Amino acid sequence: YPTSVQAAMSDERFAGHEGEDHAQEVAAAAIISAGSILLAQRTYPEELAGLWELPGGKVHDGELPAEALRRELEEELGVTTAIGPRIGVDVDLAGAGSDSERYVLRAYLVQLIAGEPQPLEHAEIRWFTVAELRDADLVPNDRVWVDDLVRSMREH
Ligand code: C5P
Repeated sequence: YPTSVQAAMSDERFAGHEGEDHAQEVAAAAIISAGSILLAQRTYPEELAGLWELPGGKVHDGELPAEALRRELEEELGVTTAIGPRIGVDVDLAGAGSDSERYVLRAYLVQLIAGEPQPLEHAEIRWFTVAELRDADLVPNDRVWVDDLVRSMREH
């Protein structure tokens, strides 16, 4: 490598980017329509059962996040979707996996293209208004996104 690249590679910021690239991603969907957001109620693990989340799941090796999210939403809700831009901050999921890998949770704005959402893998799904979202028993990781979601819901 040229000297400038070597310097960059030994730089902490470079290491940070590299670490980020290698983190496993969990992608979650903000499905917003007519001012409401579609949330899904988890059935597992025990400490999260009954809590509401943005539906989604782990990005598999060789998948792009948007592909993974489309697949997960087909599996979980039985719908065809279009994945839009990111919303909210990255959430570090310390110890989300059984291995030592780092997981990062990211939310995307998602549009329903076809199909009526069904709770194929959740206890229940439901549309939440802004007031209901603010009151909802969300999984802890998703709570950080509420203000961003509300802003987006008011625009839709
Ligand atoms: O749904 P699944 O168990 O595959 O999700 C993988 C990890 O991501 C879990 O630790 C889950 O709690 C977390 N997750 C989350 N918020 C979401 C979706 C998943 O915290 N909206």
